[in-house]
Amino acid sequence: MYRISELAQLAGLSRTALLYYEKQGLLRAQRQSNGYRLYSEQDRQRLYLLQQLQAGGLSLSECKACLDAKLNQSLLQARLQKLDHEIAQKQQARHLLASLLGHSTLRAWHQAIDQAAPDAHLSWLKQQGFNEKEALRLKWLSHDMNEHEQYMADFMAVYQGLNYWAPGSAEDTLRALALLSPPPATLLEIGCGKGIATTLLAQHTTASITAIDNEPTALEALQQQLEVLGFTKRVTALCTSMTELPFAEQSFDAIWSEGSAYIMGLVQALRYWKTFLKPGGYLVLSELVWLTDAPSPEARDFWQQGYPDMQNIATCIQRMQDAGYQLVDQFSLSDQAWQNYYQPLQERIDAMKPQLPNSRALLDSQQEINIYRQYGAEFAYQMFVLRG
Ligand SMILES: C[S@@+](CC[C@H](N)C(=O)[O-])C[C@H]1O[C@@H](n2cnc3c(N)ncnc32)[C@H](O)[C@@H]1O
Repeated sequence: MYRISELAQLAGLSRTALLYYEKQGLLRAQRQSNGYRLYSEQDRQRLYLLQQLQAGGLSLSECKACLDAKLNQSLLQARLQKLDHEIAQKQQARHLLASLLGHSTLRAWHQAIDQAAPDAHLSWLKQQGFNEKEALRLKWLSHDMNEHEQYMADFMAVYQGLNYWAPGSAEDTLRALALLSPPPATLLEIGCGKGIATTLLAQHTTASITAIDNEPTALEALQQQLEVLGFTKRVTALCTSMTELPFAEQSFDAIWSEGSAYIMGLVQALRYWKTFLKPGGYLVLSELVWLTDAPSPEARDFWQQGYPDMQNIATCIQRMQDAGYQLVDQFSLSDQAWQNYYQPLQERIDAMKPQLPNSRALLDSQQEINIYRQYGAEFAYQMFVLRG
């Protein structure tokens, strides 16, 4: 038998708590002749069970019903769901702390938080000392703060050797250009990379072109090309961010962006860039889309991590219309567009693998190519020609 102070100590509770439980009919002590309370081993075990139920989120009256075998199944089911949710959150928080201490990778955490709270994730990264460029690269490429520097060094070593940084081809660019009537006199290209589309647009229009990107090495490559081709007067390569464009409103007849809008998010890009288009101006962009509503699990999981906001064509068009554009035309980029990107990428990976066998950047790029080879029929890079 236990006296009240002994039971209280065993349970880690106060005397008053036990008296309160008695008042609520949850515990019943025997009284000694001197009036002191005595509790049996059964009472101790009942109290233990009560504490477990409370820890599971049940109120005292729910605990009582449960102890008296008046179980409410649906209530317990709801509590169980809530508990699972809390455990998952705690596990995520634990994972974050362990990862910050370098005990494990931050990949899963970055990906989960980016899906649940993308804006908070970006601003948190900025607080950790990443500028916008690196924060966006972390979001889309390295997915791990602790490994970001090494990842980007390997990534850039691969990509510096490539001309296409996304699927694209001259035929597809020119097919979209032919839909612009009248041809633009002023054109802004966003996320131009090394400028394959830029030089084509310069060759096939008389437009004054501004090509922007935030990667200086890509712009240097473009600048060299412009000098070789004699386009330096008509084409300006500018290092700036697509999220903060240094232009007056309604400056351009057309905005062109191949494989880059996703970086700031399709919807945000559609809305923000529209301010720089003249009324009735064209926006041409290419975007990764699903061709099926039931993708294979492996392809779905891969893109769920790589591009969680990937949509089907109808949803993209709806978003474009919601942002105030009219669809002029749309088509899937040709197989050649994918080959132009993946063939040299595969060659770079093969050449660099012996020196960097465990590089995450190389493994990720290889996985992307493998997914395309196996499931390429389930998704496409879609060119959209829109009118603002
Ligand atoms: C997938 S690549 C596409 C490049 C090029 N359009 C092509 O098809 O080869 C995306 C491009 O966007 C650029 N980029 C990333 N974030 C940017 C930002 N915030 N502002 C401007 N450009 C950005 C990258 O440097 C890269 O050149």
